[in-house]
Amino acid sequence: MPRGLFITFEGLDGSGKTTQIKRLAAWLEGRGHPVVVTRQPGGTAAGDRMRAILLDAQGAPLAPMAEMALMFADRAQAIAEVIRPALEAGKIVLCDRFTDSTEAYQGGGRGLESATVLELHRLICADMQPDLTLLLMPNFEASLARARRRNTRAQERTGKNEGRFEAEQDAFYRRVWEKYREIAAREPQRVVRIEGDLNIEEVHEQIVETVAERLLLTVKEG
Ligand code: TYD
Repeated sequence: MPRGLFITFEGLDGSGKTTQIKRLAAWLEGRGHPVVVTRQPGGTAAGDRMRAILLDAQGAPLAPMAEMALMFADRAQAIAEVIRPALEAGKIVLCDRFTDSTEAYQGGGRGLESATVLELHRLICADMQPDLTLLLMPNFEASLARARRRNTRAQERTGKNEGRFEAEQDAFYRRVWEKYREIAAREPQRVVRIEGDLNIEEVHEQIVETVAERLLLTVKEG
């Protein structure tokens, strides 16, 4: 069976993932590749409902274990409904966040530890691994400031506050950031880190270069 390519995007809130995913999808489609774009949490009907619970900043705080379990429930649904069928149809899946987010935010940020997250990933997601993960790490303070501004604007527009995470303290985000670095150091083959003060165009170019290399590899292997 032909198998597509599974690419995930990771990074702090406000790291520019959404813009880069759109740019990469357009680049790939322009070259005739079938692309599916999705995000976590969300991306399925059930997942969107879980997302509302996960990100609602007004409700009672979720217990960290409940939060993690719901992230995995959302992921299991996305794998079954969107990701696996697309890959089996030979498509390129671009996913905004995957299990690295759970390891960074719940494992690192909430202090639930990597081992628990990885064990759940093995059990619930059959240890499914992305072919490539693009980890966007621009300046720490600028990312957070952007995420918080965006959240305020979205709240003014929609009346909904999806900012449960944006409301966290900087120390929480430092732990998330450190955990991302740890994951990248542990899995250098899969995780490509794009760091520093680059503009949108420069980041896009680096991403395209990395993805083009992987595509070439897939063509050769296939
Ligand atoms: P979202 O609005 O999609 O933010 P972004 O555009 O920055 O990805 O919100 C997703 C939030 O959920 C984000 O703060 C990270 C968090 N999250 C986790 O804590 N664990 C997870 O497993 C996932 C997928 C997301």
